[in-house]
Amino acid sequence: MPLRPADLTRRKQAGLPITVLTAWDALSAAVVAGAGVDAVLVGDSLAMAVLGHATTLPVTLEEMLHHCRAAGRGLAAAAPNGSPLLICDLPFLTYQCGLEEALAAAGRVLKETPAVAVKLEGAEPETLAVIDRMVRSGIPVMGHLGLTPQSVHQLGYRRQAGDPVSQERLRRRALALQEAGCFALVLEHIPAELATELSLRLAIPVIGIGAGDGCDGQVRVTADLLGLTSRQPPFSPPLVDGRAIAGEALGRWVREQRAPAAPPAAPPTRPASPAAPHC
Ligand code: KIV
Repeated sequence: MPLRPADLTRRKQAGLPITVLTAWDALSAAVVAGAGVDAVLVGDSLAMAVLGHATTLPVTLEEMLHHCRAAGRGLAAAAPNGSPLLICDLPFLTYQCGLEEALAAAGRVLKETPAVAVKLEGAEPETLAVIDRMVRSGIPVMGHLGLTPQSVHQLGYRRQAGDPVSQERLRRRALALQEAGCFALVLEHIPAELATELSLRLAIPVIGIGAGDGCDGQVRVTADLLGLTSRQPPFSPPLVDGRAIAGEALGRWVREQRAPAAPPAAPPTRPASPAAPHC
């Protein structure tokens, strides 16, 4: 049985840390499931990490569905008896153009992929109305505040909520998301003290990235942790230099293929067999 959103709440209530990693296909989903994470996010960061776009904006709903189905197959194969909670990001402009369109987009995620929840960014009044509608229709929603990459042309990739006014605004927005029915909240690239305060204040799990160690859980983009991305966020250092490791291994293979063929080995000489015993 895959994990459900309520399992994350139970982990928070029990004081157990929550781990979330992104995946973009069957291979990466199997690897992160093998690592034992609680939840797998098919994040729209795949636009940059995997599809080569400069921002998350161009990725389409069709592409997210395609990658989410692949990730779901990877999870089913890797952890058939207890797979992590699978969450899929709603991409830019799939939930900002009216309630009906937003509900239809989230519905497609749940109907056409094995994901059991969607994530979306922001807490504008229209977004809160959309979340309320989705939750009342049976669709679990994860919120996302702080650095919200779909607003890169307004916010950049800078740390958010640096001054008291924007901190107070973020507090209000976080409470509003909980009120609207979000089952969890991602806080990205904000001061650690604020993220810790909100983790204590909110009943729903707060999952941080670049938001200090005081959150209920942590989420990371797997390609960042593995050192595979070309633009490493400063708040998410790599665990290994995956590009260098993979490049070196593959380069060695290429060199081996191009190496001049070694002369054929001489056939092994058979040791003289002992004389057959006479019966
Ligand atoms: O798209 C993504 O990978 C995300 C994480 C950074 C939380 O939203």
